[in-house]
Amino acid sequence: MQYDIVVKSLSKSYQSKGIIKNALSNVTLNIPQGKIFCIMGSSGSGKSTLLKILGGIEKPTSGTVYINGTNMADYKQQDYDRYRQMTVGYVFQDFNLLEGLTLKENIILPLTLQKLNEVEIQRKYTDILRCVDIRYCENNYPEQSSGGEQQRAAICRAIIKTPKLILADEPTGSLDNVNTKAILNTFVNIRETMRATIVLVTHDAVVASYCDTVVFIENGKICDTLRKEGTTQSFYDRLVTVSSKVRGVI
Ligand SMILES: Nc1ncnc2c1ncn2[C@@H]1O[C@H](COP(=O)(O)OP(=O)(O)O)[C@@H](O)[C@H]1O
Ligand SMILES: [Mg+2]
Repeated sequence: MQYDIVVKSLSKSYQSKGIIKNALSNVTLNIPQGKIFCIMGSSGSGKSTLLKILGGIEKPTSGTVYINGTNMADYKQQDYDRYRQMTVGYVFQDFNLLEGLTLKENIILPLTLQKLNEVEIQRKYTDILRCVDIRYCENNYPEQSSGGEQQRAAICRAIIKTPKLILADEPTGSLDNVNTKAILNTFVNIRETMRATIVLVTHDAVVASYCDTVVFIENGKICDTLRKEGTTQSFYDRLVTVSSKVRGVI
């Protein structure tokens, strides 16, 4: 089945203290199945808002999002719950780990909620440990963990349920180069083996150069789209050139 996200004329405004802020204006996008799709843009440009709408966390003010041909506006509450629980793995910008659980308990929580049996949960957890360096700190609580450890736990929690769609908000923002490369390789591997679609937000042109398509967003509008052609290095060079023209991207 083709897993496609089609976004048409999407706008989102927030109202706080009587002031209306247009976070997204007339965004149109097509995200094909099995690709890594990247969103770049300066702080406040609307990246997280777009990801939250794709994840069913926020609702649009106007415009439409089709997930695999179905208009999200037609989702009933149970469709949203199912979509968030089964289809999407979401990596939050601020991790959103539960403070009362260890990193390992946080990671396996989606499987516990799906009521998978203990043997299956352990098997999936062991698979994750092959990709992400987390075992040494798995019994620590979030407040005892560094930003990088929490971020890796948040990524593990998103991918352990083998979702068809991964939405990752600055997933390598707290990681060093070695861990960033490991996470990127994990994402590429997931795309290859599961034909999963990955949408990620980043400020890092190295991360973006691993992606298939990169869109630049400025003041809630798409201002440029680059598709990967040639080597990762030549794509990186093109990305840096475009980034330097869009204020505050990297
Ligand atoms: N819940 C909210 N209420 C009011 N304004 C918001 C809310 N969330 C985001 N915004 C505003 O919308 C704009 C886009 O925010 P966001 O999508 O978080 O940007 P980014 O992720 O690119 O930094 C910003 O001006 C931000 O202040
Ligand atoms: Mg953000």
